[in-house]
Amino acid sequence: MLGLIILSSALLAPNRLFARLQTQPFGRALNTQWYGLLGLEKDTRLLEVGCGPGRLASTLTTYGHTVIAVDRSWRMVRAARRFAGDRLEALQADATQLPLADASVDAVMAASLLNVLPDPVVALREFGRVARPGAVITALMPSPDFSADRARGIARDYGLGYLDQAMLETWARAARKTTPEQVVSWFMDAGLSDCTIQPLMAGSFLAAVARVGP
Ligand SMILES: C[S@@+](CC[C@H](N)C(=O)[O-])C[C@H]1O[C@@H](n2cnc3c(N)ncnc32)[C@H](O)[C@@H]1O
Repeated sequence: MLGLIILSSALLAPNRLFARLQTQPFGRALNTQWYGLLGLEKDTRLLEVGCGPGRLASTLTTYGHTVIAVDRSWRMVRAARRFAGDRLEALQADATQLPLADASVDAVMAASLLNVLPDPVVALREFGRVARPGAVITALMPSPDFSADRARGIARDYGLGYLDQAMLETWARAARKTTPEQVVSWFMDAGLSDCTIQPLMAGSFLAAVARVGP
């Protein structure tokens, strides 16, 4: 019942749901683990696609990156601008038609985006267009192991309160999940053959990391 109430309020205000998921201890730990895989240098020009309310994008600016945050939803872009002010550039655009020049960014990140797109390969090709040779392209998404049971375990491990646990469980039930094989095939089909998959949070999430060829 509580899950249903949370889900309905999330549908009314998904920007609040994503903001909360990204900033409670589990969300911060997941993003930190993901970022830690990338080996990015300071001063890189980083693009986050499907940025939601911009909490991750804003954190990335504190690591010394210049960040462009893109989302298709105007509501999300407005929330990101309100939260981060002029620390980052937030743009409304579709992942498949980015308003950026060829080879103009050093890294592209996308969290919980590829698994919700109708054709992730088209978006990945677009990421490859805007990324310079040698750039990192990376995506984070829930795996089939992210069950409600796992969500409860994560909530216990991170000391989450009742509301955050219920949100995590609701997310685990509702999320579209992706196998490592599916993700690798999307990257390959987009011409990004150098793709490795890293399990995060005991395999509940997958991080795909690829480098654009010369
Ligand atoms: C599940 S949310 C994830 C938000 C954020 N990355 C996070 O992890 O909390 C997916 C986000 O992608 C955005 N989105 C969905 N389809 C998109 C598209 N085709 N182009 C750009 N953004 C898109 C949605 O508006 C939403 O903000």
